Amino acid sequence: MSILLTGGAGYIGSIVASILKEEGEDVIILDNLSRSKKECLPSGIKFYEGDIDDVSLLEKIYVEEKIDAIMHFAAFIEVGESVLEPYKYYENNFSKTIKFFNFFINKGMDKIIFSSTAAVYGEPQYIPIDEDHIKNPTNPYGMSKLFVERFLESVERASGVHHVALRYFNASGAYGNYGENHDPETHLIPIILEVALGIRDKIFINGDDYNTTDGTCIRDYIHVYDIAKAHLLAYRYLSNNSGSLKVNLGSGEGYSILDIIESCRKITGAIIPVEVRERREGDPSTLIASSKIAEDVLGWKREYQSVDSIIESAWKFHKAKFENSK
Ligand code: UFG
Repeated sequence: MSILLTGGAGYIGSIVASILKEEGEDVIILDNLSRSKKECLPSGIKFYEGDIDDVSLLEKIYVEEKIDAIMHFAAFIEVGESVLEPYKYYENNFSKTIKFFNFFINKGMDKIIFSSTAAVYGEPQYIPIDEDHIKNPTNPYGMSKLFVERFLESVERASGVHHVALRYFNASGAYGNYGENHDPETHLIPIILEVALGIRDKIFINGDDYNTTDGTCIRDYIHVYDIAKAHLLAYRYLSNNSGSLKVNLGSGEGYSILDIIESCRKITGAIIPVEVRERREGDPSTLIASSKIAEDVLGWKREYQSVDSIIESAWKFHKAKFENSK
């Protein structure tokens, strides 16, 4: 029996696919390569190229494979872009996703692991944010993911199909040859590291007038390897229990943009010039997770305990990528 993993050429999907394979699971990837390249696919894993809502392709996968579970990563992930182009987010992350799920649910598949996000919460009412915190997304990206969670809850009531929605906080760091490699890059840590490498002149800080310790946004950075491990645990949970879960994945520690820049300066030894610009619409001021459910119910334990160790792994990856591109 196989796990069908969508978005397996992407940052998190490729690392999860590699780790599942290392752990002896049978994985199949579906990716349309719209935001990634074939070179980013993990080696030795069967790959289908195409869209998640291409029913004839799904039919082919269904006939050729024995799918036991779905891990759905394929999505647009940029908060700022989602504010400017909401249709794109609701169409891809919600409409196409429920069509995709529906196809396999109708075929009797009963285990879904869904890549959700801290963005479902919006501006926090309290910290750390637990899974029961009110959901009031401040951007269409978070809303599109929340809609899918609601869909999965309705499906569970209607047909008993169980799911685990993993709500990632800020995925970062690298695992061997796999790292954050978006095109164009919009995420904080890789952009700062590109400044350190001289690829960019400076890092623009999106607002320094938030109600936080230093005025810049605070996020909870969690290593992508630790996120990947949680997928395996979620799969085992669904295989051994009948019930669904919503699970935060974060470190429980918050770092401001200025903290992250400082850590990058320390690790790279580079001078990293900064310039403050306007706020980016859709950004909540602070996101810090309580990951108690992940720890207590899934048995999740983080290996990367410090933000410096996360940035060090990202730095190694970005330096190697830069050297190879010369
Ligand atoms: N930022 C800058 N300058 C930049 C890039 C980012 O100041 O050049 C700021 C952002 O405005 C934000 C913070 O750095 O305040 C972190 O931004 P990222 O774009 O790295 O990450 P986000 O917090 O916006 O979003 C990420 C994922 C989402 C996920 C979210 C969960 O992209 O998919 O983490 O917290 F939902």
